[in-house]
Amino acid sequence: MTGDTSAQDWLFGYGSLIFRADFPYLERKPAWIRGWARRFWQGSHDHRGTADAPGRVVTLIRVPGAVCAGMAYRIGRDVFKHLDEREKNGYRRIPERVHFDSGASVFGTLYIASKNNPAFLGSAPESEIAAHIARAVGPSGRNRDYLKNLAEALRRMNADDPHVFALEALVERDAEG
Ligand code: SIN
Repeated sequence: MTGDTSAQDWLFGYGSLIFRADFPYLERKPAWIRGWARRFWQGSHDHRGTADAPGRVVTLIRVPGAVCAGMAYRIGRDVFKHLDEREKNGYRRIPERVHFDSGASVFGTLYIASKNNPAFLGSAPESEIAAHIARAVGPSGRNRDYLKNLAEALRRMNADDPHVFALEALVERDAEG
C-alpha cells in the first residue's frame, strides 16, 4: 500500500467496531495487529451496562508475540467525532500498524481502554467474567449479545480467540442452566 496514508485514514476495530459499523466508511477488510490480545476487562456503563451495574467489554493488553484479528475501515477524518463519542467510556485513540492477509500493512488508529481509566475492571477468572456478562444489560442491549456478535464475527473471519470463545461457551452453558 502506498506510503502517503496517515494513521487517521484507517480505523482498526477489535470489539463492537467489528460487528456494529454505524459510521460511513470507504473500504472494510479483515486485518490483524501484533503484540496485543483482546480481553473482556473494560467496564461498560453506557452501552452494555449502567453506572450502577456496568457490563464487560473488550480492550487490548500487551502480549508479546500475540496476534489480534479485527476489521480495518478506511474512513474520512470527520468520522472520529462520532467514534470518540461512541467510545467515550474510557477509550482513547492510539496509532498502531495494521496488517492485511495480502502482506500489506498500513498505519491505523484503534481505541484502547488502558488500566488507568476509571471504568477499567481488569482481570478475573473466566467463569466470573462469563457470569458478569450473562447478567449485564445496558442502553445498547444485552452484554451477552455483544459477546455472541463478536464471537460470530470472528468465526466468519476464521479468526481464533480462545478468550472470546471460552467466554461464549461458558455463557451458553449458563443459559442452558
Ligand atoms: C473496538 O471495537 O475496536 C473497541 C471496543 C468496542 O467498542 O467494543
